Amino acid sequence: MVEPIYKSSKEDRLKWIKGAKYNLFNLKSNQVFIDLLTDSGTGAMSDRQWSEMMLGDESYAGASSYFKMKNAIKNILGFEHFLPTHQGRAAENVLFSVLVKEGNIIPGNSHFDTTKGHIEFRKATAVDCTIDAAFDTTIQHPFKGNVDLNKLEGVLKKDGDKIPFVIVTITNNTAGGQPVDLENLKDVYSLSHKYGKMVIFDSARFAENAYFIKLRNPDYSDKTIKEIVKEMFEYADAMTMSSKKDAIVNMGGFIAMRDKALFDKASVFNIMFEGFITYGGMSGRDMNALAQGLDEGTEFSTLESRVEQIAYLGKKLVSYGVPVQEPFGGHAIFVDAKRFFPNLPKEEYLAQTLAIETYIEGGVRGVEIGTLLADRDPITHLDRFPKLELMRLAVPRRTYTNNHMDYVAVTIGNVFARRNDIKKGFKIIHEAPILRHFTVELERVV
Ligand code: F0G
Repeated sequence: MVEPIYKSSKEDRLKWIKGAKYNLFNLKSNQVFIDLLTDSGTGAMSDRQWSEMMLGDESYAGASSYFKMKNAIKNILGFEHFLPTHQGRAAENVLFSVLVKEGNIIPGNSHFDTTKGHIEFRKATAVDCTIDAAFDTTIQHPFKGNVDLNKLEGVLKKDGDKIPFVIVTITNNTAGGQPVDLENLKDVYSLSHKYGKMVIFDSARFAENAYFIKLRNPDYSDKTIKEIVKEMFEYADAMTMSSKKDAIVNMGGFIAMRDKALFDKASVFNIMFEGFITYGGMSGRDMNALAQGLDEGTEFSTLESRVEQIAYLGKKLVSYGVPVQEPFGGHAIFVDAKRFFPNLPKEEYLAQTLAIETYIEGGVRGVEIGTLLADRDPITHLDRFPKLELMRLAVPRRTYTNNHMDYVAVTIGNVFARRNDIKKGFKIIHEAPILRHFTVELERVV
């Protein structure tokens, strides 16, 4: 699908971003030139996906589209049971309604914000056990998304009776779109099972994860992406999926699991929150496109052009001296705002300041993955300052060309060149109690 993009002047953008209360989520899409807010649901579907749309079976129960999706999940991911949901956070809502209770502790590698939101909403706690290397953007490590097994075992030993499962996010979005090695997935699985705990994969970008395994783990260089994917999921008892990423659809998600009893329990919540178990919030045509997208999204050529486009942007930014998380992520480049603005105080939302300046400079919309996203501590209500303060530039799949990436790099290069003139950040004037970054309102510190 080809869509128009809109040019604007700096004067326009200064006015629009002020009107948006300095929250990039409040901008209209036609006020943005290159939109790197997210790679979620923003990709372009293929000819084959569009033809599948025309074949959608919209029966309420037992539609052929449901069985297409079921077969794709069984063949590509290896799970027997699944429930469709309208997107990833809905999958979390349904599954966590069964599994998460007040007082629970859920260890993992940098839980995504909606995952953490669904945990904290149930008065449980997410514990981040990602390896330390992830939190230093200058360290080169092939699998910065990995779980630190010592940290994980520490939590399993200390809080074993409060842990319903361990969750592994592939790729690790919050730490910079960083992959988890297959060896690490194996080790997490055996360690968790030693303590009697299930392992769940938050699988939004599982195919990009498999691509990195093929490139960076010599044991897998001769395997196909589909073979690697199959092996990865052998080390999960269940998975949640936002299909808006690696299944390249505009809307959709699912939960898959091996255990029939868990499927039965989750079905009750699926029917309540999403829809009957053979559509769960999705139209038949969308289930068809999703099934086709799972197949295309796990082809080497699709992944190669995608991930290498991200690296193209990363290399350009580095050539302008812009500090970014390295190695480059699978779906995005993450600019390190602490290194970008070493003299601004952390209380003034560095990554948000950078995202606002980037928008003003060239109409490029990124997103803050930093203090705003981290929300307040549920007990002290003070800002939580995460180890990483990043502006993410997420590239939609099959949408922009490298020419657009050149423009993005020059825009941020220009902000970098005038970084010492930016002497103040922003303060909050209004915020929601949870997931505040979506609706927060800000003003400049004067
Ligand atoms: N898990 C991960 C790792 C994600 O990145 C997302 C969404 C979700 C779960 C939730 O899925 O949006 O379909 O409800 N990430 C998007 C992003 C929003 O921009 O990274 P959803």
